[in-house]
Amino acid sequence: MGVVAICSAKGSPGVSTGALALTLSWPAPVVLAECDPAGGDALPGYLAGQMPADRGTAELAVAHARGRLREDFFGNLIDLQPPGQRRLLLPGISSPTSAGVVAQMGPDLAALFGDLDGQGLDVVADCGRLSAEHTLWPIIVAASTVLLVVRATLPSLAHAQPTLASLEAAAGHPQNIRLLIIDQGPYTGEAGRRLGVPVVGVWPWAPRVARRLSQGGVLPRGQRLIVEAHRLAHTLHAGLHRKGVAADVR
Ligand SMILES: Nc1ncnc2c1ncn2[C@@H]1O[C@H](COP(=O)(O)OP(=O)(O)O)[C@@H](O)[C@H]1O
Ligand SMILES: [Mg+2]
Repeated sequence: MGVVAICSAKGSPGVSTGALALTLSWPAPVVLAECDPAGGDALPGYLAGQMPADRGTAELAVAHARGRLREDFFGNLIDLQPPGQRRLLLPGISSPTSAGVVAQMGPDLAALFGDLDGQGLDVVADCGRLSAEHTLWPIIVAASTVLLVVRATLPSLAHAQPTLASLEAAAGHPQNIRLLIIDQGPYTGEAGRRLGVPVVGVWPWAPRVARRLSQGGVLPRGQRLIVEAHRLAHTLHAGLHRKGVAADVR
């Protein structure tokens, strides 16, 4: 199945920014699923509040409670680049108070994501911080690839260590856990060795582009972060559809 879960250990290393950058570069139809129990970012951020906030995981959780998860799924998506229908957004919750009810549909949502493969859709799931109370573990467990985002600082790597241990214990494909390093700090070169996990991407510290991804605006072409996102999206996509193993590891 074509599901990439992207998450962090602690802090805000750039999970949502990374998930959106990957989605915008994905070489096939894809759904960006905002599963972070702390809330979704793209509606108020990248889309700058220009779309009605009447769709997303909270509305889907209500549909799930009525036994209509699959029927109502596509109606809860937003086309990020209309009218293409190739990059779709399942908006996350606008208030963390909805996190518990969203978590209740976790197993069924994970199964639905797995089945989207049959319709030619991949999923990039922004799962946020793994230490949260209502983390959607079923999606992480079922994902073919799990990306842990870390910044190249000692605190970020220190917090990643215990998180990786729980991730390895829980993940359905622990051999497919990968690091995405945000190159802000001196430990980029040794992060993979320190954590014992393959590094699949090193993205530059690029506040201007990151701000446009998280707050809206035109993305500059050829900027290194966008180039790296494009490269990683193609790597992950190729890996997902080649027996689920993330290829081209650095
Ligand atoms: N590669 C980067 N370079 C510079 N700033 C970044 C980068 N990635 C993310 N940021 C910034 O860091 C902040 C947190 O990013 P976000 O993606 O929301 O983190 P998370 O989802 O992990 O909480 C945002 O202000 C974002 O613009
Ligand atoms: Mg986030």
